Amino acid sequence: MTLAEKIGQMSQLMIGRNPLSDTEARIRQGLAGSCLNAASVEQRNHLQRLAVEESRLGIPLLFGRDVIHGFRTMLPIPLAQASSFDTALVEEGARLAAREASAEGVDWAFGPVVDVTRDPRWGRIAETSGEDPFLAAQLARAVVRGLQGADFSDRDRVIACAKHFLAYGAVEAGKDYNTITISEQNLREVHLPSFRACIEEGVGTVMSAFNEINGVPATANRFTLRDLLKGELAFDGFVVSDCSSVVEIVQHGFCTDERAAAREAASAGIDMEMATSAFITHLEALTVSGELVSEVVEEAVRRVLRIKFRRGLFEHPYPRGSTSRTLPVEHRGVAQRLAEESAVLLKNRDAVLPLSPELRSLAVIGCLANAPLDQMGCWTLDGRTEDVVTPLAALRSRFPAIRIDFAPGIETPRSRDSSGIEAAVAAARAAEVVLLFVGEDQNISGESKCRAFLDLPGIQSELVAAVADAAKQLVLIVMSGRPLVIDAALERADAVLWAWHNGTMGGPALVNLLFGARAPSGKLPVSFPRTVGQIPIYYSHKATGRPPKAEARAGIPIGTPIDPIGFSTCHLDVESSPLFPFGFGLTYGTVEYSDLVVVNLVVPRNGTLEVHARLRCHGARPIEEVAQLYVRDLVGSVTRPVRELKGFQRVALAPNEAKTVRFRIPASDLAFPGRDGALQLEPGDFHVWVGGCSDATLQGEFSLA
Ligand code: NOJ
Repeated sequence: MTLAEKIGQMSQLMIGRNPLSDTEARIRQGLAGSCLNAASVEQRNHLQRLAVEESRLGIPLLFGRDVIHGFRTMLPIPLAQASSFDTALVEEGARLAAREASAEGVDWAFGPVVDVTRDPRWGRIAETSGEDPFLAAQLARAVVRGLQGADFSDRDRVIACAKHFLAYGAVEAGKDYNTITISEQNLREVHLPSFRACIEEGVGTVMSAFNEINGVPATANRFTLRDLLKGELAFDGFVVSDCSSVVEIVQHGFCTDERAAAREAASAGIDMEMATSAFITHLEALTVSGELVSEVVEEAVRRVLRIKFRRGLFEHPYPRGSTSRTLPVEHRGVAQRLAEESAVLLKNRDAVLPLSPELRSLAVIGCLANAPLDQMGCWTLDGRTEDVVTPLAALRSRFPAIRIDFAPGIETPRSRDSSGIEAAVAAARAAEVVLLFVGEDQNISGESKCRAFLDLPGIQSELVAAVADAAKQLVLIVMSGRPLVIDAALERADAVLWAWHNGTMGGPALVNLLFGARAPSGKLPVSFPRTVGQIPIYYSHKATGRPPKAEARAGIPIGTPIDPIGFSTCHLDVESSPLFPFGFGLTYGTVEYSDLVVVNLVVPRNGTLEVHARLRCHGARPIEEVAQLYVRDLVGSVTRPVRELKGFQRVALAPNEAKTVRFRIPASDLAFPGRDGALQLEPGDFHVWVGGCSDATLQGEFSLA
């Protein structure tokens, strides 16, 4: 390979950014290693032919695409999938996405998003698994396995890409692309584990992040890319920059110009530049002049080609072409099951849910009851609105005998036109039960869609108030890409089902839940704040020297001469707890936890902690419950969080059935990064809890020897 051809492999072309003829010329000259955003299987075929048949070396292109939660069959958004706590089903969803994408000539999915975030203002929380490093790591593994299989040369699979390295979920003030100042401890404890998990699963690629970390852009960061990722974690695939993040190094104020940015990015360990042309323009001269050591280019090319060989691209460069123009039933079934398992029941006063199929009249209110695009959520490049079954459509087809009045109330979630509210109120008044759909449109969730207010957009709160006054029974269904601060609306509703943006089959899934064909079983993968001022609020916080007191909720009464709260870690004007904690979710009936048994009170360093607990379903319906295990390491050379999730299991229970759930936690999962950064196990005492939420009270003790 000539130097230019090597650098070509380090360059990804964004289709559509430049005239197609320029793109084609670059491919013919062997000056491109990959393409982003090719629009169709036909286009991918055409471009691949140029690379394979018309370039000097015939090295096939790698076609990348954002396959974030499904390809054509849109699965619920990742934050919703995380609510299922069902790694097997999430893996299955990723497998189907890979199959659909690969059939269309996509070799490489830009997912999973394994960023951990504690900030619902950040629009990209929708793409993540939420606030917890352990849950994020388990789901990251599942998605990598689903996308890549045991071997990503399998034509039904694709290469995965763990992103965004590193700490992108910690952007200041929840504003996308923003600065990150973070301790190495936090970087390693919270943000690194999900990437480590992906690498252990053999992820083929990693994408660098847009943000800077402690003054150095992630795309020029030798510490994170070379020392941590390629060194410590021994990642042997290749690193792609994010879209334009190489040239943005200049904008960060880290380099004077694109030439310097190319040098810094490549030296730091970026193997392929996404979308922009700093590498192709400058790396050759930089290498020839010796400003860039040639080993940097050699290593990057080796890494890129290694992944192409592993993919089997040299044997099978061409896409198969779509096998089917309709969605396979199997794929729709998985999408529906995921949507069912990811809805979280937050309230159910007087067991108003499930509804009776004998109902005679139902008012369906809110534009989101029938909004296919919004229902799919962010990143739905290949999803099609015509495939989507909305709740309204599903209700009408399932219950032809029920009179269903649909009144959107407002035309779109952010509309401020109140002229439809009167009709919505009339429909509410005339029905036995009101299903009120509120939330966010797709367009305010995802990349760059950050919010400072987390209330219902537009005049939806007015709609809720007006409809609540008129409804006999009000069921609120929230479709959103993030937690929202809507306590007033929650207060007014009899039942609240948090559906998220739940994908192609979200409608039938919700109908199954609302009418009891399945019981809700989702649990929150992120704490819901009471108010934006509590952010970041998360269950695995540290203790502080002055933990909050119960009296804190009262605030300081007017005129009191002394401070009754007593200088503790709290806000004066809101209680310290979240509105709904991490892990919370109701079902039909209740689940009782009892009989916690810590099998081994002393766990050897190379041993396994074994904890059992008894679950009993009180209720008339079969349910599934996500049992969760949390620990607290009481004393650490680096202080430990007040609780940490270390295990979870989905347990099916028949009415009144009791089962014992058994957790086996390898002692190595109790390790944490010490002050030198290395993972270490410290002997000492622990508390352990098992329950249906992060505030579980069933407690035991053990110690690590
Ligand atoms: C920018 C996003 O940050 C990244 O996640 C995505 O894969 C690329 N654009 C390509 O679309």
